[in-house]
Amino acid sequence: MTTSQTTAALFQPFEVGNLKLDNRIVMAPMTRTFSPGGIPGPNVAGYYRRRAENAVGLIITEGTVINHPAASADHGVPHFYGEEALEGWARVVREVHEAGGKIAPQIWHTGTARDKSRFPDSDIDSVGPSGLNLKGEKVSEPLSVEEIQGLVQAYAQAAADAKRLGFDAVEIHGAHGYLIDQFFWDMTNKRTDEYGGSDLVERTRFAVEVIEAVRAAVGPDFPIIFRFSQWKPVNYDAKLAANPEELERFLAPLSAAGVDIFHASTRRFWEPEFEGSDLNLAGWTRKITGKPAITVGSVGLDSVFTSLFEEGKGGEAAGIESLIERLDRGEFDLVAVGRALLTDPAWAAKIRDNRTDELQPFTRESLATLS
Ligand code: PHB
Repeated sequence: MTTSQTTAALFQPFEVGNLKLDNRIVMAPMTRTFSPGGIPGPNVAGYYRRRAENAVGLIITEGTVINHPAASADHGVPHFYGEEALEGWARVVREVHEAGGKIAPQIWHTGTARDKSRFPDSDIDSVGPSGLNLKGEKVSEPLSVEEIQGLVQAYAQAAADAKRLGFDAVEIHGAHGYLIDQFFWDMTNKRTDEYGGSDLVERTRFAVEVIEAVRAAVGPDFPIIFRFSQWKPVNYDAKLAANPEELERFLAPLSAAGVDIFHASTRRFWEPEFEGSDLNLAGWTRKITGKPAITVGSVGLDSVFTSLFEEGKGGEAAGIESLIERLDRGEFDLVAVGRALLTDPAWAAKIRDNRTDELQPFTRESLATLS
């Protein structure tokens, strides 16, 4: 089989709601901190345009923070509120669309993952369901119900603005130990009111309200992508759901609230999520919910298509052939590519055109000269 035959599954169109994609390749959200003062400039538009020009089916932007004073964990992370930042995003959308691409912002609140000491100009505490950071340290008072409802509205406003600016979809960041995931996780949610509880399903309430409010803000046809993960940056082995039954109970309320596409974040796409099956987290999610799923995790970092992904670590990643086999079998619908697309804006076009000898390897050198 030639490479182009092998990769054909990646280049099939895909449709959900109003969203029509030319192919299955998604640019994964990656923090770049290149929006000083929260304003994405022309360089940010150029960065996304280069991926759109080079056959990425859907771009999901870096996390961009909702309108709340403690949402951001870094001065260079873009805001998704305020006239100047939203004008910057309008330029991003325009340039990506001119290049024939599709784009969704990832709307984000970092919760207590925000380190207040990085904001010497701010006396604002970081916030979370129980005021606990990921290490279990108390950094603030638990959010009040009124504050929680204000946050729900801030997500809804961001989604409404995404639609108004012409974005093609919106992704809600519910993963990786940030605010929404802090409600899911029993280590960070010790609440005993309606936003907490000993059962994981009880701890989905904040996410459900966010999804419902976003749905109300964008109407029935604007796709909502929901990103979640089992892993936390402090604990790669953490599990919200220990087995498929728990995953089903967890995802059911999120799905019913209005999610169109689940983005199941894993660090390595080839790792089975639960014993007794090869399915990864995206595979289980698709099977359980019947909704389209995006997989992610070291795609394109294998030694077949790139020479090395870090000195001495080449070959640790599974080959793209095994990814495509899973896609072909219908395990998931879309494939998010992170680091490979960071180092090589033309990664997707080169895979499509069988120009794999031209791929920029993911190395320390290539990371130093990102564009
Ligand atoms: C990061 O900046 O490293 C980062 C940001 C958001 C994530 C994961 C990692 O969801």
